[in-house]
Amino acid sequence: MFDDIADKYDFMNHVLSFGIDKFWRKRLVKELRRYKPKKILDIATGTGDSAIVLLQTDAEKIIGVDISKKMLARGKEKIRKKKLSGKIELMHCDGESLKFKNNTFDAVNVSFGVRNFENLDKGLSEIYQAVKPDGIATILEFSMPGNFMIRQIYSIYFFHILPLVGRFFSQNKYAYSYLPQSVKAFPKGNQFVQRLQNAGFRQTRHIPLTFGIAEIYIGIK
Ligand SMILES: C[S@@+](CC[C@H](N)C(=O)[O-])C[C@H]1O[C@@H](n2cnc3c(N)ncnc32)[C@H](O)[C@@H]1O
Repeated sequence: MFDDIADKYDFMNHVLSFGIDKFWRKRLVKELRRYKPKKILDIATGTGDSAIVLLQTDAEKIIGVDISKKMLARGKEKIRKKKLSGKIELMHCDGESLKFKNNTFDAVNVSFGVRNFENLDKGLSEIYQAVKPDGIATILEFSMPGNFMIRQIYSIYFFHILPLVGRFFSQNKYAYSYLPQSVKAFPKGNQFVQRLQNAGFRQTRHIPLTFGIAEIYIGIK
């Protein structure tokens, strides 16, 4: 699916989120900076935006992995144009079956990617193995607002307007209906925190963003 929408992914992302994702990514960087990570793995890196923003943590090296070759191709082009190839390396790799030695990264991040894992617990356990002891895992993911009224209003946009607009611009029948349905079915808030704990993470917490439309989940190895 991501191969099919790779060319339009960045445009769609910013239109459908009204650019709010940029603030969420900045908040993520703020959390990560506290841990001063030198080497970061960005799983489901897509077209590279999340890897590029992670440079703001002052990390020396970011490795981004993704299973979509077309998303990666867009990302590689972007990184080459921005002359960031020395700092960011993108590679084709399944986040649920990582190819790195255990305890390699100071931080592992997944932005809007874990929702697509076939087996969430397997993916979280791979993340746990890749992080160094005392290292941090961060997950930025869509959620749903906790407040009843806000949730009702947001649901009209998310479940009815967004799929139509997404379908119109992307010319893909499936991708933007899949987005709200996958968010609906995905664990949120404390449910997701519990899954992080099950994978072995400690000092777990979550930070709701913009009324809870998205969340940053944090765990320490
Ligand atoms: C919504 S995009 C997010 C891209 C990027 N992280 C961002 O924040 O814009 C989801 C990405 O997850 C990737 N993906 C899905 N399952 C994956 C897996 N098992 N391993 C690695 N990447 C995966 C898709 O190919 C896609 O590029």
